[in-house]
Amino acid sequence: MSRVAYVNGAYVPLRGAGVSIMDRGFQFADSIYEVWAIRGGRLFDVDEHMARLQRSLAELRITPPMGEASLMAVIRETIRRNRVHDGIVYVQVSRGAANRDHVFPPPRTPPTLIVTAKNLDQRAIAARASAGIKVTSTAETRWARRDIKTVNLLPNVLARQGAKEQGAFEAWFVDGGGHVTEGASSNAWIVDASGVLRTRALSKDILHGVTRGAILRLAQERQMKIEERPFTLAEAKEAREAFITAASNAATAVVEIDGVRIGDGKPGPVTEALRAAYLGA
Ligand code: PDD
Repeated sequence: MSRVAYVNGAYVPLRGAGVSIMDRGFQFADSIYEVWAIRGGRLFDVDEHMARLQRSLAELRITPPMGEASLMAVIRETIRRNRVHDGIVYVQVSRGAANRDHVFPPPRTPPTLIVTAKNLDQRAIAARASAGIKVTSTAETRWARRDIKTVNLLPNVLARQGAKEQGAFEAWFVDGGGHVTEGASSNAWIVDASGVLRTRALSKDILHGVTRGAILRLAQERQMKIEERPFTLAEAKEAREAFITAASNAATAVVEIDGVRIGDGKPGPVTEALRAAYLGA
């Protein structure tokens, strides 16, 4: 089945779909995006991802391309047309196409909106969850507004590629103080040596992960010992458990960091319990 994309008002074949070479997303990464997971035909954390999309637009003063209800209808229609049952839907909004100039284009320049959806390899996702993933560390080199979900992802791209070349799935950014900020495309968690579930508190240093928020609520409901406090790479390597959260991977165990085995090298009970709770298993 050939895939379909929504581009600026029309559903078009994905192959050959495009936007202007003058698009500010292409020229300046002047663009934001959002990703929802779909599992068993159900969109996860619908409102939270929409709220973050609106916040990203507002922070960058990009005009919303349409109202929320209309955008939601486009999202659902794109999912339907692509027959996505287990996968992701991707929304990107740029400040539009205009003559190349760093300053904002004229106010009436329409934003660019694209929506795509695809099924993901569920066997690969399940295999990662049951075996756990390897993570490498890398210096934090991103800008100071990581709370905005922009397509300005070059450090993230290089970090993930570096991880892959070392046989790992994810890279964890480490700040100047030796603390883990987050993953290149996920939030970072540990169950520390004294059994406390830890993840960095929300700030401009990290993306306010929707899955992070959901997992935190589930942990609170289960009366786990939780601290929203940064951890060092050294603490992570001595942790009982480590895991990542992201829309596409839910909560997935980390069993190795920079070649150091975490716990007994298998997904731990806290990670497994939170993952199962999140997926409604
Ligand atoms: N990545 N941190 C970063 C830097 C991310 O890119 C992501 C998500 C997360 C987790 O956020 P959430 O739980 O809301 O998915 C944290 C998406 C999925 C991506 O880039 O494809």
